[in-house]
Amino acid sequence: MHDPQHPLTTSEQLHAAALDVFPGGVSHNIRYFEPHPIYIARASDSRIWDVDGNEYVDFWMNHMASVLGHAYPDVVEAVTEQARDGLHYGAPNEVALELGRLVRTFVPSAERVRFCASGTEATMYAVRLARAHTDRDRILKAEGGWHGGNTDLSVAIHAPYDQPETAGLPPGVTEQVHAFPVNDPDAVVDLLERYRGEVAAIIVEPMLLAGGGVTATDEFLRTLREECDARGCVLIFDEVVTGFRVSPGSYQARIGVLPDLTTLGKFLGGGLPVGALAGRAELFEPARPDIDVPPVERVIAGGGTFSMNPMTAAAGVASLRVLDDEPVFAYTESRAERVRTELAALFEELNVDSVVLGESSLFLPHFAPEGPLDSVGAVETKTDRDALRAYHVRLLEHGYYFLPGHMGSVSYQTTDAQLDGFLDATRTVVGQLRGAGRV
Ligand SMILES: Cc1ncc(COP(=O)(O)O)c(C=O)c1O
Repeated sequence: MHDPQHPLTTSEQLHAAALDVFPGGVSHNIRYFEPHPIYIARASDSRIWDVDGNEYVDFWMNHMASVLGHAYPDVVEAVTEQARDGLHYGAPNEVALELGRLVRTFVPSAERVRFCASGTEATMYAVRLARAHTDRDRILKAEGGWHGGNTDLSVAIHAPYDQPETAGLPPGVTEQVHAFPVNDPDAVVDLLERYRGEVAAIIVEPMLLAGGGVTATDEFLRTLREECDARGCVLIFDEVVTGFRVSPGSYQARIGVLPDLTTLGKFLGGGLPVGALAGRAELFEPARPDIDVPPVERVIAGGGTFSMNPMTAAAGVASLRVLDDEPVFAYTESRAERVRTELAALFEELNVDSVVLGESSLFLPHFAPEGPLDSVGAVETKTDRDALRAYHVRLLEHGYYFLPGHMGSVSYQTTDAQLDGFLDATRTVVGQLRGAGRV
């Protein structure tokens, strides 16, 4: 037990103390890594500082949520001003309405919006609305798709996809959810045929980022749209990561394929907790409190103590205004494109087999033999995940922070000089890994 007379000063000490509090010392398992996670003391622009006195260029960027970088001045100002008027009222407020209206303005399929406090909640409500709307139970999802810790979708996240993803799921839940490899339309059609008339929804992330950065092709997403139309299923795009990141209208606007429901989160909250469900007005009708729907047809979709909270809304509105006023996409996407290209060239020069995935402002090199990594299954089976984690852990020593094994994200405040430094550090680290026979 820690002696309160002696302050805890290092990440190692804090982690040791955390083991008595949180299972494994963390509240989100992906934040754990060996030998111990780093404790962050503060963050500003493109950088974070740990309690051990180290400065890092941050490429993890708050689970990819902070596209503008940390503590963006307009956002800090908006949140500070809102705090003076109260943190949350548990009641409707104008700033949250403004954020909702911005979602409607930006996201083409968003006729109605419901706020909640996380992306996990948003996907939970999306599935429920789709089931209620269609009066069907089965859901199709992509192998390797991550939609938060929601019970309904805790299926086929990690290979092997036919094994249970977690203990503690009641019988029946997983039997209703079927997974397909992304970019394999035949597999989707097979499932739709096998469960003809029983599929309520298809849910898919346009870019599977927890799955290593695989992108669904436009053609595949278009096929999903057509199949859903032909068979009366609800198409759900999980845009928790891609929402507002790839264009103001999100991925759907970029490719011109509109889903029936969209789940949003991360960027929308400007760095504070958020989730939102948006989509066709008709689907939200049974969620209205002001119409006479028989109780059995009502749907609880949205809610939570902290939904529509004005702090998140103030941060979100300020962030979306920056998107509107400044060349955020042009900046972040061109820098990430540079990183992807130069990383690929560097690995080739160093004779290390690799494939660099990611689009828009995101990037992740995989240590892999040549070959397409066009599904999450391919990433899981063909790449060396241990080498990737070792690469990221060693980069920490050079001042570059990635959550080991996870996507890199270029923010609006990441500088070219920082990218130069990162590419140099990669050269050194990959050389070391090569020398140690790790890649
Ligand atoms: C695509 C996707 N959907 C849903 C979620 C869950 O969102 P949250 O972590 O806010 O619950 C995430 C989180 O990483 C995600 O990447």
